[in-house]
Amino acid sequence: MLDKIESAEKGFSAEIAEVKDDEALEAVRIKYLGRKGLFTELFEEFKQLPKEEKPKYGQMLNKAKSSAQKKFDEVKIQLASSESEIQEYIDLSLPGRKIELGSTHILTQTLNEIKQIFKGLGFSIYEGPELESDHNNFEMLNFPADHPARDMQDTFFINDKFLLRTHTSPVQVRLMESKEPPLRAIMPGKVYRNEALSAKSYCLFHQVEGLYVDEDVTFAELKGTLVAFAKQFFGDDVKYRFRPSFFPFTEPSAEVDIWWEQKGKPGKWLEIMGCGMVDPNVFENVGIDNEKYVGYAFGMGVERIAMLKYGVGDIRVFFDNDKRFLQQF
Ligand code: PHE
Repeated sequence: MLDKIESAEKGFSAEIAEVKDDEALEAVRIKYLGRKGLFTELFEEFKQLPKEEKPKYGQMLNKAKSSAQKKFDEVKIQLASSESEIQEYIDLSLPGRKIELGSTHILTQTLNEIKQIFKGLGFSIYEGPELESDHNNFEMLNFPADHPARDMQDTFFINDKFLLRTHTSPVQVRLMESKEPPLRAIMPGKVYRNEALSAKSYCLFHQVEGLYVDEDVTFAELKGTLVAFAKQFFGDDVKYRFRPSFFPFTEPSAEVDIWWEQKGKPGKWLEIMGCGMVDPNVFENVGIDNEKYVGYAFGMGVERIAMLKYGVGDIRVFFDNDKRFLQQF
């Protein structure tokens, strides 16, 4: 009997030490502690023992079984807690962590779309600096030194010769000075004006200038090109009008308005660009023969156009970089 008890104890200790999961633990339980397990068998045998041997073996057996049971309970708790530890690290049911992706700013998207449309109409792209000379920004464009037209554009001067360009038209000057006609290009970029900030105007905005110079360019072509652009950009049913206007560097000049309707508000005309036939004085300034060449030019505000297309009511939101706004596009 003694041998049997000792070998049961040894066997149990050896096997429980190997247990790594619930399944193995259960197998050990059934083998030793179950209703038909080894300890139960030993208790059966114990019953057959002569009376005088019973107290001794009874004690031994009880001790062996209860220490096996204790060990079993410990291992069970260990297994359960190591499992819950793992669960803290890897909860496979948790949603993954969201990786935030940047996106193309709505103004860049609008610019790209404008470029794409004019590329399709045969225009190339030409760029110039944002820091300009008064000479290119005004004088070459037929704004004489104290011409009242300078008041049209509140200027950020750097000193008395240089400024932050107030429009993209000086890039026309650069293009005409550096290349021979025929010329057909758009000139996108940032422009700056010292204006009171409001929902409609900001100190910085984007323009896309256009220029076409050749021997027999007409106002009808200018109109046709701009209408083709408006239809491609806003859709065939866009409502537009050309309104006579004034710019020192074009004659005749016009402004293009687009009909703007927002839900629940009365519609209105919104100006999106200026345009006209290049003034012969400008050709003379840049050294292009104004007897031989004619041209048209236009300049549009990118923010205005994006506001119209996407129903944005305040120009300032383009520059706030509030993700809640940017993520909508
Ligand atoms: N440069 C003008 C402006 O900023 C727009 C324009 C460009 C008008 C070309 C006519 C021709 O207001």
